[in-house]
Amino acid sequence: MAASKVTFRDHGQMMIEGDFVIEDSKGNTFDLSGRTKISLCRCGHSRNKPFCDGSHHGRSDPSEKFNSEIEACKLPEMKVKKD
Ligand code: FES
Repeated sequence: MAASKVTFRDHGQMMIEGDFVIEDSKGNTFDLSGRTKISLCRCGHSRNKPFCDGSHHGRSDPSEKFNSEIEACKLPEMKVKKD
């Protein structure tokens, strides 16, 4: 099994669990206080980004209910750059 696992929830968050670190754009690491499983926001409406706070349900504004279903797929082969 991989050291970490990422799971996409339909119409919701991205779960990550296992051995991982999360850094901001400056390379600073978030202190997860020992958590080994967290939810990251995909909808853009969380007031606690990058973490999911449940806002994807559109409770305060139903028009903001997030719709996204992800299906696993195979990526195209990587192209090797030639110098
Ligand atoms: S995915 Fe949950 S608040 Fe954005």
